[in-house]
Amino acid sequence: MIKPHGSEELRPLFIENEDKRGEAAEQAERLPALQLNSAAAANAVMLGAGYFSPLPGFMNAADAKSVAEDLHTRGGLFWPVPCLNLCADPSSLGRVELIALRDPNLPGNPVLAVQEIESVEKLKDSQWESLTERIFRTRDPNHPGVATFMSLGRNVVSGPIRVLNYSYFERDFPGTFRTAVQIRSAIRANGWDAVVAFQTRNPMHRAHEELCKMAKESVRADGVLIHMLLGKLKPGDIPAHVRDAAIRKMVELYFPPNSVMVTGYGFDMLYAGPREAVLHAVFRQNAGCTHLIVGRDHAGVGTYYGPFDAQTIFDQEVPKDALQIQIFRADNTAFSKKLGRVVMMRDAPDHKEEDFVQLSGTRVREMLSAGQELPREFARPEVAHILMEYYQQEAGT
Ligand code: ADX
Repeated sequence: MIKPHGSEELRPLFIENEDKRGEAAEQAERLPALQLNSAAAANAVMLGAGYFSPLPGFMNAADAKSVAEDLHTRGGLFWPVPCLNLCADPSSLGRVELIALRDPNLPGNPVLAVQEIESVEKLKDSQWESLTERIFRTRDPNHPGVATFMSLGRNVVSGPIRVLNYSYFERDFPGTFRTAVQIRSAIRANGWDAVVAFQTRNPMHRAHEELCKMAKESVRADGVLIHMLLGKLKPGDIPAHVRDAAIRKMVELYFPPNSVMVTGYGFDMLYAGPREAVLHAVFRQNAGCTHLIVGRDHAGVGTYYGPFDAQTIFDQEVPKDALQIQIFRADNTAFSKKLGRVVMMRDAPDHKEEDFVQLSGTRVREMLSAGQELPREFARPEVAHILMEYYQQEAGT
């Protein structure tokens, strides 16, 4: 099986032993506390679940700078996006050595993790701007990821953590949220060798379904891991439980049995395009996948990134031996009226724009909200109906 990133064994930071976890939780109640923001809480969940293995916790300012500028920690570990606990008000941290990290996303703010404080550093404007620019390739506050990043506070609280639970992800998505540890063991149990991961934050239409099938065939994979983001999105994106239902329906009706695992991970969307694509590759390798599909405008938003920047970063910035997982580079994919099937545009060089059935996200939303059927070439009707129900409910409220 493919090795985890940067170490022989996966290093999840969740306290697996129930007694030890109970003890840690009890002690945590007596510790000084820091209320996390959602981005830091999501990092803690990813660290706990093994997706961010082998990081031991939150980075300090020097590592964050090194990762942002050079995609490596100062210790030489390849890593694409700084893993930070940023806070606005560090006054409660004084001379404290150990703190309880409280969950902003659950009522009563229970303790999510315990952190050893290595350092608390305030970022200067120039440091802050440089981090933002490197991660997002822009500092435009209209970029949703930049806007979130700017709101997080400028104090970097670094140090190793131990994780006590998986926040709301376990509670809200019991059938779908899975840790990297669980996915690795499910892949092993299935006897799968090559596994293609499909990252998604959207419902899946014909193009996405076929992308998975094409990738699976092309790399001769034993199975596909559909791995959806379950954390926070920008306004207007479709909630996870609706996407989950739509994706499950598609898999049930249109994929051979036992060829796909439908799962999700607990992280907030960064919309960081190329850098996020590389992070996606790291954590799919940790989950035991041998390939990751990267298509058009992967993890992008608006027009901040070129349609294939998230592919070229793997050629231009990721050193050859940095990752074991391989990238399946997908071209723009759509239904060809001439050929009567979904194709990648590079495979139909004689086609013109109008030879494909393509709909913008806005048009899809308009049609579904108005109760109109989507073209069958674009979406499976059973999938479209689940989305239509959601949009119509939205329109009614
Ligand atoms: S993402 O933000 O999670 O990347 P989305 O769920 O829309 O967004 O896309 C999932 C994956 O499918 C990404 O790799 C994306 O590049 C790819 N993709 C989506 N639509 C197309 C398309 N029409 N052609 C090619 N690739 C696509």
